[in-house]
Amino acid sequence: MVKSVDGPVFKKIAEATTLLNTDAYVIGGFVRDLLLNRASKDLDIVTSGDGIEIATKTAELLKVKKVSVFKTYGTAMFMYNDWQVEFVGARKESYNTDSRNPLVFPGTIKDDQNRRDFTINAMAISLRKNDFGALIDPFHGVDDLNNKVIRTPLDPDITFTDDPLRMMRAIRFATQLKFQILPETLDAITRNASRINIITKERISEELNKIIMTEKPSIGFYLLDQTGLLGLIFPVFTNLKGAEYVNGKGHKDNFKHTLEVLDRIAPNTDNLWLRWAALLHDIAKPVTRRFDPLSGWTFHGHEFKGMKMIPSIFSELRLPLNEKMKYVQKMVLLHLRPIVLSEDVVTDSAVRRLLIDAGDDIDDLMTLCEADITSKNHAKVLRYMSNFEVVRTKLKEIEAKDNLRNWQPPVSGEIIMEVFALEPCRQVGVIKTAIREAILEGTIHNNFEEAFQLMLSEGSKLGLTVVKQHLK
Ligand code: CTP
Repeated sequence: MVKSVDGPVFKKIAEATTLLNTDAYVIGGFVRDLLLNRASKDLDIVTSGDGIEIATKTAELLKVKKVSVFKTYGTAMFMYNDWQVEFVGARKESYNTDSRNPLVFPGTIKDDQNRRDFTINAMAISLRKNDFGALIDPFHGVDDLNNKVIRTPLDPDITFTDDPLRMMRAIRFATQLKFQILPETLDAITRNASRINIITKERISEELNKIIMTEKPSIGFYLLDQTGLLGLIFPVFTNLKGAEYVNGKGHKDNFKHTLEVLDRIAPNTDNLWLRWAALLHDIAKPVTRRFDPLSGWTFHGHEFKGMKMIPSIFSELRLPLNEKMKYVQKMVLLHLRPIVLSEDVVTDSAVRRLLIDAGDDIDDLMTLCEADITSKNHAKVLRYMSNFEVVRTKLKEIEAKDNLRNWQPPVSGEIIMEVFALEPCRQVGVIKTAIREAILEGTIHNNFEEAFQLMLSEGSKLGLTVVKQHLK
């Protein structure tokens, strides 16, 4: 007997099995999570009978009205409160080598367990009345859970050939659960890595995102790299690898550094896109790397070039090409700004410029920058961190005082044109820039009156005549 499967859904499925004289088992992720004490309300039910029939009967007993039926697949699902319950007939599958679409035949529960990805995902709990709650664990999934091991139920070459996405899933589970992949299983991933090519990019990225969202994503990335998968699914990232030496001068290994930054940002954000920004912040270092005999290694403009590389990376990985991508681009472009600022005397005007450029994303940018401070030199890290505190305090002070987040010029181009009776022209731009610079430099405050006065004096310098005294 295992931890309880309790509650109306399980009870009614049991009743349905009696009424229909069949069997039913809850299987897969739910059972694994139950044994790991991770609550889940996502149920996969398998029966050696007819999945649709038992779904319909259970729904009737639970007074659930809407059952979605997928006849071609022999599956059905319904929602009961926040439980999502899916039913399927037990299957025996046979795959062909160049497609993920299996040939499906009806089978027993044992057949169904055989075709699952890992022993920890192949456990089932009976929901029949006579042995309700019994754990059916033919591959010793419980032992693997206790020993924290990822292992395939069958020969791993078969399991991975059947569905190559499982290679990514193995690494994802190892990262999420902090489990070890059995050496034979890991070897099989390396052997079969190239078969990942038959999997759609969307599904690959879904797994990649799950790895990125774990507590320590670097575990997954090192495994992906070690097995050769990373080079196949995300080659531009593997270009970060290695520290090159010229005249005894080396630069840090940007692959290692990037993964350290990703791990460092993980406890501070659950925003997937900020984590992506951490992953991509130095992506252009390999293409901007130069060796200068005087100053050593440089990566000039890698933030700009990196920002430019992101659309093709996102498109290749089928990640969204919308405002999420723009946000990642912005983070990558600005990622050096707070750190450059903290290296020097932190002036008000530099802080104002940063606030205007980052807008509402300033806190995320600071989180990224802080994670980016990795160095073996402890004293250097401490110095950066303390300078960083100065930047944070200054940001707060100036924000409170100047209200610069999402800044809009207090005197618009329209007003300038109206006052001097101008069509859109260069002079309007000159006056606008003068106002912006004066606010950034702190020579005037960020308000309409002072900006308006400055506009008048700048206009007169340009020989313009005031046609209309505009009132706010
Ligand atoms: N499964 C499999 N091979 C796959 C995907 C899924 O064998 N490529 C099986 C596993 O038994 C798995 C179950 O289908 O437990 C449900 O899959 P899914 O809902 O994708 O994953 P979970 O294991 O529930 O885990 P998570 O919700 O974290 O993705």
